[in-house]
Amino acid sequence: MNSSEIRTRFLKFFEKRGHKIIPSASLIPENDPSVLFNTAGMQPIVPYLLGQKHPMGDRLVDVQKCVRTGDIEEVGDNRHLTFFEMLGNWSLGDYFKEDTIKWSFEFLTNKEEGLGLDIKRIYVTVFEGNDDAPRDTEAVEIWKNYLPEERIYFLPAKNNWWSAGDNGPCGPDTEIFYDPNKNAIGNMSHNEFVKSDNEGQIVEIWNNVFMQYEKKDGKVVGMLAKHNVDTGMGLERITMISQSVKTVFDTDLFIPIINKIIELSSQRDERMERIIADHLRTAIFMIADGVLPSNTDRGYILRRLLRRSIRSGQSLTTNFKYEELVEIINKKYGDFYPEIKNNKNLIISELNKEFNKFRETLENGLKMINNLFKKEDNLDTFSLDGTILFDLYQSYGFPVELSLEEINRERINRGLLMMDNDLKETYLKNFFNKLREHQKLSQTSSAGMFKGGLANHNDKTIKLHTAHHLLLAGLQDVVSKDIKQRGSNITEERLRMDFMCDHKLTEEEKKNVEDWVNDKIKRNLNVVRREMPLAEAEKIGAQMEFGAKYPDMVSIYIVEDENGQAVSKEFCGGPHVENTKDLGHFKIQKEEAVAAGIRRIKAVLV
Ligand code: ALA
Repeated sequence: MNSSEIRTRFLKFFEKRGHKIIPSASLIPENDPSVLFNTAGMQPIVPYLLGQKHPMGDRLVDVQKCVRTGDIEEVGDNRHLTFFEMLGNWSLGDYFKEDTIKWSFEFLTNKEEGLGLDIKRIYVTVFEGNDDAPRDTEAVEIWKNYLPEERIYFLPAKNNWWSAGDNGPCGPDTEIFYDPNKNAIGNMSHNEFVKSDNEGQIVEIWNNVFMQYEKKDGKVVGMLAKHNVDTGMGLERITMISQSVKTVFDTDLFIPIINKIIELSSQRDERMERIIADHLRTAIFMIADGVLPSNTDRGYILRRLLRRSIRSGQSLTTNFKYEELVEIINKKYGDFYPEIKNNKNLIISELNKEFNKFRETLENGLKMINNLFKKEDNLDTFSLDGTILFDLYQSYGFPVELSLEEINRERINRGLLMMDNDLKETYLKNFFNKLREHQKLSQTSSAGMFKGGLANHNDKTIKLHTAHHLLLAGLQDVVSKDIKQRGSNITEERLRMDFMCDHKLTEEEKKNVEDWVNDKIKRNLNVVRREMPLAEAEKIGAQMEFGAKYPDMVSIYIVEDENGQAVSKEFCGGPHVENTKDLGHFKIQKEEAVAAGIRRIKAVLV
C-alpha cells in the first residue's frame, strides 16, 4: 500500500465514523509564539482541546505537517527525520477511551478499510499511575477485548504521559507498538519488550492521548472542562511498517527522492543521500509555508537545513541540480500539498540564492582557517577544546566535516600523517560538546523569550494579536490594497509582521498607518468572532494566512465600526480582546526589508 493510499484510508476510515476532515495547518504556528514550528498534530488544535468550539464540530481527522529539529545532527542514520506528517483523529469532548482504542485497533488490523497488520505483532503500553492521575486500568480493560493481557504493559509517566510543553492540555496515553520481525509470534516478555524498545527494534506506531488534564508551568493543575482524545501516527513510520521495509528511506515517500539523488551524484554515500533527502524535503515545505532563510528563528533553522544539504550535495558531486530534486518532491507531494506546487518558483529561487551565499561563506571560512593555521605551530593542539571548530561552524556557517578535511590537508602540507580515527573522534567529541552546551543555552534563552504562548495566553499577547489584525487592515487601507501578510510572530513585548510590499514605507506612510490603527483603538470598536462556511468567508474578503488551507467551516474575527461595517476581517482562531479600547497606544518601532519584496514591521502597544 503506498503512502497516499494510507493517508486516504486513514481520513476515510474516520470520516465514516463521524469525523470531519480538516486540512493540515501551516508549519508555522498561528498565534503561538512558544514554538517555532508545529511539532505535533495537536498543536493547532490546542484552543479546541482547551474548550473553544471548533467550527467543524467535535470529531475531527487530519494529516498535519510537523517539523522537529532537535535531532538535526542525527539525521543520516536510519530513522531520524526533521519533517513528518502526523495522522490524527480528535474527539473534542465527544468519544473517549473505548471508541478510540477500538478504532485504532480496527484501522491497524482490518484489511478492507485499514492496513491489515498482523495482530500477533502488536503490543501496547498504558499509564501506570502517579500522584497526578490513577493507573489506567480502564484502558487495559478495553485493550483486553483485542489483545492478550501479556502484550499490554504498564509504564510510568516518562513513557505514557503526553504534553506539548509546560503549559496546556495533557494526559495519560496508550501507545501502540509493532514488531517488524515477520516471524514474531507475540511472546515477548515485559523486559524483552523494554529492551527491544530501547534498542529501537520494536517500533512505536501510534499514540492515543486521553487529554483530560491541564498543565501550568510544568505541573498538572487539574482537569479540563471536557475529556478529549488526541492521537498521532507518523505517516513515514506507518508506511515503513506497512511496506515491510527496514527504514523510512526505503518507503515510497523517499525512494524517488533518494533515487534522483543517486542519479545526480558521481559517488555513493548513504548518509549524505539521506541528509539531502530529509533536509531538502523539510526546507521545501518550510518555504512553501512562508519561511525564508535568515539568521534568526525559523529562517535560521531553514538556513541550517539548506546548508547541510548543499554541503552534503557537494560531497557527492561538484554540480548538484536542485531544480530536479524540487521537481521530484513536487511530484510526490504537490497533489496533497498544493502549496508546494504553487510556490515552486519561489522555492527554486530561494534554493539558488542560498546556494550562492553559501559558496561565499565557504570561501570566507577557508580564508579564516588558513589564517589560523599560519598562527598555530602545533596542529594536534589546534582546536582540541572544540572552540575553534565550533566558532567556524557557528559564526561562519563552516561545516565541521570541512574543517576536519582542511586540517588533514594542512597536515599533509606539513609532512605529517593524516589524523587517525582517535584524533578525529576527539575533535568531533569536543565539537559536539560545545554544540550541545550552546544548544542548551539557546533553548533556555528562547524559552525565556517566548514565555507565554497559546497554552498560556496572557493579556499582553492577546492585545498585540488584535493590534496585529488592525495593522494589516491599516497597511491595506493606507499603503496599498495589494499588501498581503507573509508571516507573523508575537511575544509579550511586541508584534512582528512580514508582508509583501514592493517598496520601503515612507515616514509619512508609517505615521498614517499608526494614526489609522490608533483611530480604531480610540473609537472603542467591538471585536467579534463569527463562524461561517469557507466560501462565504472568501466572498466577504476575509484575510487568509499565507499558504494556509481551511476547512469548510471557518472562524473569522471581525473588528466592526459604529455602523457594524468591518474595518478588519481575518481568518483566525483567536483569542482577541472584546473591544479595541483595551489596547492602549499603537507604535511602529521598525520597518525593514527581510527579502526581495517582503517587508517587516515590529510594533508595540504602549
Ligand atoms: N500528541 C500526541 C503525539 O504527538 C498524539 O504523540
